[in-house]
Amino acid sequence: MINYSEKIPNNVDLGRDRILQRALEHWQPAFLGWWYDMGPTESRTYDVYLRTAISVEPDGWAQFDYVKMPDYRWGIFLQPRDEQRQVSFGTHKGQPAWQEVPGEYRSTLRRIIVTQGDTEPASVEQQKMLGLSCPSLYDLRNIFQVNVEEGRHLWAMVYLLHRYFGRDGREEAEALLARRSGDTDNPRILGAFNEPTPDWLAFYMFTFFTDRDGKFQLCALAESGFDPLSRTCRFMLTEEAHHMFVGETGVGRIIQRTCEVMKEHNVEDPSDVRALGVIDLQTIQKYLNFHYSVTLDLYGSDVSSNAANYFTSGLKGRFRETKLEDDHVLADASYPVSEVLDGKIITKNIPALTALNERLRDDYIDEIADGVSRWQRVIDQAGISFRLTLPHKGFHREIGNFAGHFISIDGQVLLEEAWKKHEFEWLPSSKDYEFVQSLMTGRVAEPGKFANWIAPPLRGINNNPLNFEYVRFN
Ligand SMILES: [Fe+2]
Ligand SMILES: [Fe+2]
Repeated sequence: MINYSEKIPNNVDLGRDRILQRALEHWQPAFLGWWYDMGPTESRTYDVYLRTAISVEPDGWAQFDYVKMPDYRWGIFLQPRDEQRQVSFGTHKGQPAWQEVPGEYRSTLRRIIVTQGDTEPASVEQQKMLGLSCPSLYDLRNIFQVNVEEGRHLWAMVYLLHRYFGRDGREEAEALLARRSGDTDNPRILGAFNEPTPDWLAFYMFTFFTDRDGKFQLCALAESGFDPLSRTCRFMLTEEAHHMFVGETGVGRIIQRTCEVMKEHNVEDPSDVRALGVIDLQTIQKYLNFHYSVTLDLYGSDVSSNAANYFTSGLKGRFRETKLEDDHVLADASYPVSEVLDGKIITKNIPALTALNERLRDDYIDEIADGVSRWQRVIDQAGISFRLTLPHKGFHREIGNFAGHFISIDGQVLLEEAWKKHEFEWLPSSKDYEFVQSLMTGRVAEPGKFANWIAPPLRGINNNPLNFEYVRFN
Protein backbone atom coordinates (compact mmCIF):
# COMPACT_ATOMS: atom_id res chain seq x y z
CA MET A 1 0.00 0.00 0.00
CA ILE A 2 0.96 3.60 -0.34
CA ASN A 3 1.32 5.66 2.78
CA TYR A 4 -0.98 8.66 2.40
CA SER A 5 -0.55 9.93 5.94
CA GLU A 6 2.69 11.66 5.01
CA LYS A 7 2.96 14.97 3.26
CA ILE A 8 4.34 13.20 0.22
CA PRO A 9 2.49 9.91 -0.34
CA ASN A 10 4.97 7.10 -0.85
CA ASN A 11 5.80 3.46 -0.46
CA VAL A 12 9.52 4.01 0.06
CA ASP A 13 9.44 4.66 3.79
CA LEU A 14 10.18 8.31 3.22
CA GLY A 15 9.49 9.18 6.88
CA ARG A 16 12.67 7.34 7.86
CA ASP A 17 14.92 9.17 5.44
CA ARG A 18 15.05 12.71 6.83
CA ILE A 19 17.51 14.12 4.31
CA LEU A 20 15.56 12.90 1.33
CA GLN A 21 12.29 14.00 2.90
CA ARG A 22 13.62 17.51 3.41
CA ALA A 23 14.91 17.71 -0.16
CA LEU A 24 11.58 16.62 -1.58
CA GLU A 25 9.58 18.89 0.71
CA HIS A 26 11.70 21.73 -0.54
CA TRP A 27 11.02 20.79 -4.15
CA GLN A 28 7.29 20.28 -3.63
CA PRO A 29 6.28 24.00 -3.55
CA ALA A 30 8.37 24.60 -6.66
CA PHE A 31 6.52 21.78 -8.37
CA LEU A 32 3.16 23.26 -7.37
CA GLY A 33 4.31 26.65 -8.61
CA TRP A 34 5.15 25.01 -11.93
CA TRP A 35 1.74 23.30 -11.99
CA TYR A 36 -0.06 26.60 -11.37
CA ASP A 37 1.94 28.24 -14.17
CA MET A 38 2.12 25.47 -16.72
CA GLY A 39 -0.62 22.98 -15.77
CA PRO A 40 -4.04 23.03 -17.47
CA THR A 41 -5.36 26.56 -17.94
CA GLU A 42 -8.09 27.76 -15.56
CA SER A 43 -8.47 24.35 -13.99
CA ARG A 44 -7.49 25.13 -10.43
CA THR A 45 -10.94 24.99 -8.84
CA TYR A 46 -12.46 22.21 -10.94
CA ASP A 47 -13.51 18.99 -9.29
CA VAL A 48 -12.24 16.25 -11.56
CA TYR A 49 -13.23 12.60 -11.33
CA LEU A 50 -9.70 11.25 -11.12
CA ARG A 51 -8.05 7.94 -10.48
CA THR A 52 -5.42 8.02 -7.75
CA ALA A 53 -2.97 5.22 -7.05
CA ILE A 54 -3.51 3.75 -3.59
CA SER A 55 -1.46 0.59 -3.96
CA VAL A 56 1.26 -0.66 -6.27
CA GLU A 57 -0.11 -4.17 -6.52
CA PRO A 58 -1.16 -5.00 -10.05
CA ASP A 59 -4.77 -5.72 -9.10
CA GLY A 60 -6.94 -2.87 -7.95
CA TRP A 61 -4.42 -0.14 -7.28
CA ALA A 62 -6.70 2.73 -8.18
CA GLN A 63 -9.35 4.73 -6.41
CA PHE A 64 -11.72 7.10 -8.23
CA ASP A 65 -13.05 10.28 -6.71
CA TYR A 66 -13.49 14.00 -7.30
CA VAL A 67 -10.23 15.83 -6.75
CA LYS A 68 -9.09 19.39 -7.35
CA MET A 69 -5.95 18.89 -9.42
CA PRO A 70 -3.62 20.95 -7.22
CA ASP A 71 -4.69 18.58 -4.39
CA TYR A 72 -3.83 15.46 -6.37
CA ARG A 73 -1.64 13.22 -4.21
CA TRP A 74 1.49 13.23 -6.30
CA GLY A 75 3.98 10.93 -4.73
CA ILE A 76 6.59 8.22 -4.97
CA PHE A 77 5.44 4.74 -5.81
CA LEU A 78 7.83 1.96 -6.68
CA GLN A 79 6.99 -1.58 -7.63
CA PRO A 80 7.91 -3.85 -4.66
CA ARG A 81 11.48 -5.10 -4.60
CA ASP A 82 12.38 -8.54 -5.82
CA GLU A 83 15.26 -9.59 -3.55
CA GLN A 84 16.46 -12.15 -6.10
CA ARG A 85 16.63 -9.77 -9.03
CA GLN A 86 19.82 -9.77 -11.08
CA VAL A 87 21.31 -7.66 -13.81
CA SER A 88 20.01 -9.55 -16.83
CA PHE A 89 22.18 -8.25 -19.68
CA GLY A 90 25.51 -6.69 -20.56
CA THR A 91 28.87 -7.29 -18.93
CA HIS A 92 27.40 -7.41 -15.40
CA LYS A 93 24.86 -10.08 -16.30
CA GLY A 94 24.19 -12.38 -13.38
CA GLN A 95 25.30 -9.98 -10.64
CA PRO A 96 22.71 -8.96 -8.04
CA ALA A 97 20.78 -5.89 -9.25
CA TRP A 98 22.31 -2.67 -7.89
CA GLN A 99 20.57 -0.94 -5.02
CA GLU A 100 22.93 2.04 -5.18
CA VAL A 101 24.34 3.82 -8.21
CA PRO A 102 27.62 2.26 -9.39
CA GLY A 103 30.18 5.08 -9.23
CA GLU A 104 31.47 4.57 -12.77
CA TYR A 105 27.96 4.96 -14.23
CA ARG A 106 26.83 7.87 -12.12
CA SER A 107 26.79 10.61 -14.74
CA THR A 108 25.41 8.35 -17.49
CA LEU A 109 22.56 7.21 -15.27
CA ARG A 110 21.81 10.74 -14.20
CA ARG A 111 21.63 11.77 -17.87
CA ILE A 112 19.23 8.91 -18.66
CA ILE A 113 16.96 9.83 -15.74
CA VAL A 114 16.99 13.55 -16.57
CA THR A 115 16.17 12.89 -20.23
CA GLN A 116 13.22 10.70 -19.28
CA GLY A 117 12.13 13.11 -16.54
CA ASP A 118 12.18 16.08 -18.88
CA THR A 119 9.49 14.60 -21.14
CA GLU A 120 6.96 14.38 -18.30
CA PRO A 121 6.37 18.09 -17.54
CA ALA A 122 6.92 18.88 -21.24
CA SER A 123 3.77 17.11 -22.34
CA VAL A 124 1.72 18.86 -19.64
CA GLU A 125 3.00 22.17 -21.00
CA GLN A 126 2.19 21.14 -24.57
CA GLN A 127 -1.39 20.28 -23.59
CA LYS A 128 -1.99 23.25 -21.34
CA MET A 129 -4.64 25.03 -23.44
CA LEU A 130 -6.65 22.05 -24.64
CA GLY A 131 -9.11 21.99 -21.76
CA LEU A 132 -10.70 25.13 -23.18
CA SER A 133 -11.79 23.29 -26.34
CA CYS A 134 -12.64 19.81 -25.05
CA PRO A 135 -15.17 17.78 -27.04
CA SER A 136 -16.87 16.42 -23.88
CA LEU A 137 -16.55 16.16 -20.10
CA TYR A 138 -15.39 12.58 -20.56
CA ASP A 139 -12.48 13.74 -22.74
CA LEU A 140 -11.72 16.65 -20.46
CA ARG A 141 -11.43 14.31 -17.52
CA ASN A 142 -9.15 12.04 -19.53
CA ILE A 143 -6.71 14.78 -20.49
CA PHE A 144 -6.58 15.93 -16.87
CA GLN A 145 -5.89 12.35 -15.77
CA VAL A 146 -3.03 12.16 -18.24
CA ASN A 147 -1.71 15.53 -17.03
CA VAL A 148 -1.67 14.67 -13.31
CA GLU A 149 -0.01 11.34 -14.06
CA GLU A 150 2.68 13.00 -16.16
CA GLY A 151 3.18 15.24 -13.14
CA ARG A 152 3.61 12.13 -11.02
CA HIS A 153 6.07 10.69 -13.49
CA LEU A 154 8.12 13.81 -12.96
CA TRP A 155 7.98 13.09 -9.23
CA ALA A 156 9.14 9.55 -9.93
CA MET A 157 12.28 10.77 -11.70
CA VAL A 158 12.90 13.55 -9.19
CA TYR A 159 12.80 11.00 -6.38
CA LEU A 160 15.63 9.10 -8.06
CA LEU A 161 17.63 12.30 -8.57
CA HIS A 162 17.18 13.40 -4.96
CA ARG A 163 17.70 10.03 -3.40
CA TYR A 164 20.70 8.84 -5.41
CA PHE A 165 22.51 11.83 -6.90
CA GLY A 166 23.05 14.29 -4.08
CA ARG A 167 23.57 17.91 -4.95
CA ASP A 168 23.75 17.45 -8.75
CA GLY A 169 20.53 15.51 -8.54
CA ARG A 170 18.84 18.38 -6.70
CA GLU A 171 20.10 20.85 -9.29
CA GLU A 172 18.80 18.69 -12.11
CA ALA A 173 15.43 18.43 -10.36
CA GLU A 174 15.19 22.21 -10.30
CA ALA A 175 16.19 22.46 -13.95
CA LEU A 176 13.33 20.09 -14.82
CA LEU A 177 10.94 22.76 -13.56
CA ALA A 178 12.78 25.57 -15.35
CA ARG A 179 12.86 24.32 -18.94
CA ARG A 180 9.76 25.01 -21.01
CA SER A 181 8.33 23.20 -24.02
CA GLY A 182 8.97 25.20 -27.17
CA ASP A 183 10.99 27.91 -25.38
CA THR A 184 13.75 29.35 -27.55
CA ASP A 185 16.17 29.99 -24.67
CA ASN A 186 15.48 27.05 -22.42
CA PRO A 187 13.60 24.35 -24.35
CA ARG A 188 12.84 20.78 -23.33
CA ILE A 189 15.59 18.31 -24.19
CA LEU A 190 13.94 16.28 -26.97
CA GLY A 191 12.48 17.59 -30.23
CA ALA A 192 8.98 16.10 -30.17
CA PHE A 193 8.45 17.65 -26.74
CA ASN A 194 8.94 21.13 -28.12
CA GLU A 195 6.33 20.74 -30.86
CA PRO A 196 2.99 22.40 -30.19
CA THR A 197 -0.10 20.28 -29.52
CA PRO A 198 -2.57 22.77 -30.97
CA ASP A 199 -5.79 20.75 -31.05
CA TRP A 200 -7.45 17.56 -29.88
CA LEU A 201 -6.58 15.53 -32.95
CA ALA A 202 -2.93 16.41 -32.24
CA PHE A 203 -3.45 15.46 -28.58
CA TYR A 204 -4.82 12.01 -29.40
CA MET A 205 -2.07 11.46 -31.96
CA PHE A 206 0.47 12.55 -29.36
CA THR A 207 -0.86 10.16 -26.72
CA PHE A 208 -0.99 7.33 -29.26
CA PHE A 209 2.43 7.90 -30.83
CA THR A 210 4.55 9.83 -28.35
CA ASP A 211 3.26 8.38 -25.08
CA ARG A 212 3.98 5.02 -26.68
CA ASP A 213 7.59 6.09 -27.15
CA GLY A 214 7.36 6.76 -23.40
CA LYS A 215 6.18 3.21 -22.90
CA PHE A 216 9.07 1.73 -24.89
CA GLN A 217 11.67 3.87 -23.13
CA LEU A 218 10.18 2.92 -19.74
CA CYS A 219 10.16 -0.75 -20.74
CA ALA A 220 13.86 -0.52 -21.64
CA LEU A 221 14.63 1.28 -18.35
CA ALA A 222 12.48 -1.20 -16.39
CA GLU A 223 15.14 -3.77 -17.39
CA SER A 224 17.88 -1.63 -15.85
CA GLY A 225 20.39 -3.21 -13.51
CA PHE A 226 19.91 -0.16 -11.29
CA ASP A 227 17.00 -1.60 -9.34
CA PRO A 228 15.35 1.61 -8.07
CA LEU A 229 15.07 2.86 -11.66
CA SER A 230 13.60 -0.44 -12.77
CA ARG A 231 11.01 -0.46 -9.97
CA THR A 232 10.07 3.16 -10.59
CA CYS A 233 9.54 2.57 -14.31
CA ARG A 234 7.50 -0.56 -13.73
CA PHE A 235 4.92 1.37 -11.80
CA MET A 236 4.94 4.26 -14.29
CA LEU A 237 4.07 1.79 -17.02
CA THR A 238 0.76 0.98 -15.36
CA GLU A 239 -0.21 4.65 -15.71
CA GLU A 240 1.16 4.92 -19.26
CA ALA A 241 -1.26 2.29 -20.49
CA HIS A 242 -4.16 4.67 -19.89
CA HIS A 243 -2.49 7.45 -21.87
CA MET A 244 -2.15 5.25 -24.92
CA PHE A 245 -5.75 4.10 -24.48
CA VAL A 246 -6.84 7.73 -24.57
CA GLY A 247 -4.88 8.26 -27.79
CA GLU A 248 -5.93 5.15 -29.62
CA THR A 249 -9.62 5.47 -28.78
CA GLY A 250 -9.55 9.22 -29.36
CA VAL A 251 -8.27 8.92 -32.92
CA GLY A 252 -10.53 5.89 -33.44
CA ARG A 253 -13.61 7.86 -32.37
CA ILE A 254 -12.72 10.74 -34.69
CA ILE A 255 -12.33 8.29 -37.59
CA GLN A 256 -15.58 6.62 -36.66
CA ARG A 257 -17.50 9.89 -36.61
CA THR A 258 -16.03 10.96 -39.95
CA CYS A 259 -17.00 7.64 -41.51
CA GLU A 260 -20.54 7.87 -40.11
CA VAL A 261 -21.02 11.31 -41.60
CA MET A 262 -19.46 10.28 -44.95
CA LYS A 263 -21.86 7.36 -45.14
CA GLU A 264 -24.89 9.26 -44.00
CA HIS A 265 -24.39 12.02 -46.58
CA ASN A 266 -22.77 9.84 -49.20
CA VAL A 267 -19.73 12.11 -49.62
CA GLU A 268 -16.07 11.31 -50.16
CA ASP A 269 -14.43 14.50 -51.31
CA PRO A 270 -12.46 16.01 -48.41
CA SER A 271 -13.98 19.45 -48.86
CA ASP A 272 -17.52 17.99 -48.74
CA VAL A 273 -16.54 16.03 -45.63
CA ARG A 274 -15.18 19.17 -43.99
CA ALA A 275 -18.30 21.10 -44.86
CA LEU A 276 -20.20 18.67 -42.64
CA GLY A 277 -18.09 19.61 -39.64
CA VAL A 278 -15.95 16.50 -39.32
CA ILE A 279 -12.26 15.88 -40.04
CA ASP A 280 -11.56 14.33 -43.44
CA LEU A 281 -9.56 11.11 -43.46
CA GLN A 282 -6.83 12.76 -45.56
CA THR A 283 -6.15 15.26 -42.80
CA ILE A 284 -6.11 12.49 -40.21
CA GLN A 285 -3.50 10.70 -42.36
CA LYS A 286 -1.36 13.86 -42.45
CA TYR A 287 -1.47 14.23 -38.67
CA LEU A 288 -0.51 10.57 -38.40
CA ASN A 289 2.48 11.14 -40.72
CA PHE A 290 3.64 14.07 -38.65
CA HIS A 291 3.36 12.50 -35.21
CA TYR A 292 4.81 9.19 -36.35
CA SER A 293 7.88 10.78 -37.92
CA VAL A 294 8.72 13.18 -35.09
CA THR A 295 8.26 10.37 -32.58
CA LEU A 296 10.59 8.03 -34.50
CA ASP A 297 13.32 10.63 -33.95
CA LEU A 298 12.97 10.21 -30.17
CA TYR A 299 14.73 6.84 -30.36
CA GLY A 300 17.94 8.56 -31.42
CA SER A 301 20.55 7.68 -34.02
CA ASP A 302 20.31 4.37 -35.83
CA VAL A 303 23.98 3.76 -35.10
CA SER A 304 24.82 4.78 -31.56
CA SER A 305 27.77 4.05 -29.35
CA ASN A 306 25.84 5.55 -26.43
CA ALA A 307 23.12 2.96 -26.88
CA ALA A 308 25.79 0.26 -26.93
CA ASN A 309 27.32 1.61 -23.72
CA TYR A 310 23.98 1.84 -21.93
CA PHE A 311 23.36 -1.80 -22.75
CA THR A 312 26.82 -3.15 -22.07
CA SER A 313 26.87 -1.32 -18.74
CA GLY A 314 23.52 -2.86 -17.76
CA LEU A 315 21.76 0.51 -17.52
CA LYS A 316 19.18 0.24 -20.30
CA GLY A 317 17.95 -3.04 -21.74
CA ARG A 318 15.95 -3.99 -24.78
CA PHE A 319 12.18 -4.21 -25.01
CA ARG A 320 11.19 -7.36 -23.03
CA GLU A 321 14.88 -8.13 -22.41
CA THR A 322 14.31 -11.02 -20.02
CA LYS A 323 11.87 -12.70 -22.44
CA LEU A 324 14.35 -12.62 -25.34
CA GLU A 325 16.20 -15.81 -26.12
CA ASP A 326 19.81 -14.93 -26.81
CA ASP A 327 22.97 -14.39 -24.78
CA HIS A 328 21.92 -10.87 -23.59
CA VAL A 329 25.45 -9.69 -24.28
CA LEU A 330 25.26 -9.30 -28.08
CA ALA A 331 29.01 -9.16 -28.60
CA ASP A 332 28.80 -11.19 -31.83
CA ALA A 333 25.27 -10.37 -32.96
CA SER A 334 24.31 -8.09 -35.86
CA TYR A 335 21.21 -6.12 -36.76
CA PRO A 336 19.94 -4.57 -40.02
CA VAL A 337 20.01 -0.79 -40.30
CA SER A 338 19.06 1.37 -43.29
CA GLU A 339 20.96 4.27 -44.77
CA VAL A 340 20.94 6.40 -47.88
CA LEU A 341 23.72 5.61 -50.34
CA ASP A 342 24.00 7.18 -53.81
CA GLY A 343 20.38 8.25 -53.81
CA LYS A 344 19.06 4.86 -52.70
CA ILE A 345 18.03 3.40 -49.40
CA ILE A 346 20.08 0.35 -48.61
CA THR A 347 20.07 -1.97 -45.62
CA LYS A 348 23.18 -3.40 -44.05
CA ASN A 349 23.99 -5.43 -41.00
CA ILE A 350 25.91 -3.70 -38.27
CA PRO A 351 26.95 -4.84 -34.79
CA ALA A 352 23.74 -5.33 -32.81
CA LEU A 353 25.12 -3.37 -29.87
CA THR A 354 25.37 -0.12 -31.81
CA ALA A 355 21.95 -0.72 -33.39
CA LEU A 356 19.98 -0.86 -30.16
CA ASN A 357 18.17 2.44 -30.78
CA GLU A 358 17.07 1.14 -34.14
CA ARG A 359 15.95 -2.11 -32.62
CA LEU A 360 13.79 -0.36 -30.02
CA ARG A 361 12.38 1.84 -32.79
CA ASP A 362 11.49 -1.29 -34.78
CA ASP A 363 9.75 -2.86 -31.78
CA TYR A 364 7.79 0.36 -31.43
CA ILE A 365 6.87 0.38 -35.12
CA ASP A 366 5.42 -3.14 -34.82
CA GLU A 367 3.10 -2.04 -32.06
CA ILE A 368 2.15 1.15 -33.89
CA ALA A 369 1.27 -0.87 -36.99
CA ASP A 370 -1.15 -2.97 -34.94
CA GLY A 371 -2.88 0.14 -33.62
CA VAL A 372 -3.17 1.68 -37.08
CA SER A 373 -4.73 -1.52 -38.38
CA ARG A 374 -7.34 -1.26 -35.64
CA TRP A 375 -8.17 2.24 -36.89
CA GLN A 376 -8.31 0.85 -40.41
CA ARG A 377 -10.94 -1.64 -39.33
CA VAL A 378 -13.24 1.24 -38.36
CA ILE A 379 -12.95 2.57 -41.92
CA ASP A 380 -13.38 -0.88 -43.47
CA GLN A 381 -16.44 -1.62 -41.41
CA ALA A 382 -18.03 1.56 -42.68
CA GLY A 383 -17.43 0.29 -46.22
CA ILE A 384 -15.15 3.19 -47.16
CA SER A 385 -12.23 2.42 -49.43
CA PHE A 386 -9.69 4.80 -47.80
CA ARG A 387 -6.47 3.22 -46.51
CA LEU A 388 -4.48 4.61 -43.60
CA THR A 389 -0.79 3.89 -44.02
CA LEU A 390 2.38 4.33 -42.03
CA PRO A 391 4.96 6.44 -43.86
CA HIS A 392 8.33 4.98 -44.70
CA LYS A 393 10.64 4.99 -41.69
CA GLY A 394 12.91 7.55 -43.37
CA PHE A 395 10.17 10.08 -44.07
CA HIS A 396 10.55 13.51 -42.41
CA ARG A 397 13.35 12.49 -40.10
CA GLU A 398 15.78 14.82 -38.40
CA ILE A 399 17.86 12.37 -36.43
CA GLY A 400 19.87 9.37 -37.59
CA ASN A 401 20.79 8.03 -41.01
CA PHE A 402 17.86 9.68 -42.78
CA ALA A 403 18.48 13.16 -41.39
CA GLY A 404 19.31 15.62 -44.16
CA HIS A 405 17.70 13.40 -46.82
CA PHE A 406 14.38 14.00 -48.47
CA ILE A 407 12.52 10.73 -48.31
CA SER A 408 9.00 10.53 -49.71
CA ILE A 409 6.14 8.98 -47.83
CA ASP A 410 6.70 5.69 -49.71
CA GLY A 411 10.46 5.62 -49.34
CA GLN A 412 11.79 7.29 -52.49
CA VAL A 413 14.90 9.40 -52.11
CA LEU A 414 14.02 12.78 -53.61
CA LEU A 415 15.77 16.07 -54.18
CA GLU A 416 14.75 18.79 -51.76
CA GLU A 417 12.76 20.67 -54.38
CA ALA A 418 10.73 17.63 -55.38
CA TRP A 419 10.06 16.79 -51.75
CA LYS A 420 8.92 20.31 -50.96
CA LYS A 421 6.43 20.14 -53.81
CA HIS A 422 4.64 17.33 -52.00
CA GLU A 423 5.22 18.47 -48.44
CA PHE A 424 1.64 19.46 -47.71
CA GLU A 425 0.17 16.42 -49.36
CA TRP A 426 2.00 14.52 -46.65
CA LEU A 427 2.08 16.81 -43.65
CA PRO A 428 -0.59 19.14 -42.25
CA SER A 429 -0.44 22.62 -43.76
CA SER A 430 -1.32 25.75 -41.84
CA LYS A 431 -4.71 25.58 -43.61
CA ASP A 432 -5.26 22.07 -42.31
CA TYR A 433 -4.41 23.17 -38.78
CA GLU A 434 -6.74 26.12 -39.16
CA PHE A 435 -9.56 23.89 -40.28
CA VAL A 436 -9.14 21.49 -37.35
CA GLN A 437 -8.86 24.46 -35.02
CA SER A 438 -12.09 25.90 -36.44
CA LEU A 439 -13.99 22.83 -35.22
CA MET A 440 -12.66 23.29 -31.69
CA THR A 441 -13.50 26.82 -30.80
CA GLY A 442 -15.29 26.18 -27.53
CA ARG A 443 -15.67 23.50 -24.93
CA VAL A 444 -18.52 21.00 -24.87
CA ALA A 445 -19.38 20.91 -21.20
CA GLU A 446 -22.84 19.42 -20.92
CA PRO A 447 -22.75 15.90 -19.41
CA GLY A 448 -23.32 13.26 -22.08
CA LYS A 449 -22.83 15.65 -25.01
CA PHE A 450 -20.03 15.21 -27.56
CA ALA A 451 -18.69 17.56 -30.21
CA ASN A 452 -19.90 16.83 -33.72
CA TRP A 453 -16.45 15.72 -34.94
CA ILE A 454 -15.99 12.80 -32.52
CA ALA A 455 -18.05 9.72 -31.70
CA PRO A 456 -18.84 8.96 -28.04
CA PRO A 457 -16.68 6.23 -26.47
CA LEU A 458 -18.04 2.73 -25.96
CA ARG A 459 -18.19 3.13 -22.21
CA GLY A 460 -17.55 5.65 -19.47
CA ILE A 461 -14.82 5.77 -16.86
CA ASN A 462 -14.98 3.31 -13.96
CA ASN A 463 -18.34 1.92 -15.14
CA ASN A 464 -20.02 5.30 -14.96
CA PRO A 465 -22.44 6.27 -17.72
CA LEU A 466 -21.40 8.61 -20.52
CA ASN A 467 -23.57 11.39 -19.10
CA PHE A 468 -21.76 11.26 -15.76
CA GLU A 469 -20.47 14.63 -14.60
CA TYR A 470 -16.75 13.83 -15.02
CA VAL A 471 -15.72 17.41 -14.33
CA ARG A 472 -17.49 20.00 -12.18
CA PHE A 473 -16.48 23.52 -13.02
CA ASN A 474 -17.73 25.19 -9.81
FE1 LIG B 1 4.89 9.85 -18.50
FE1 LIG C 1 2.28 9.33 -20.67
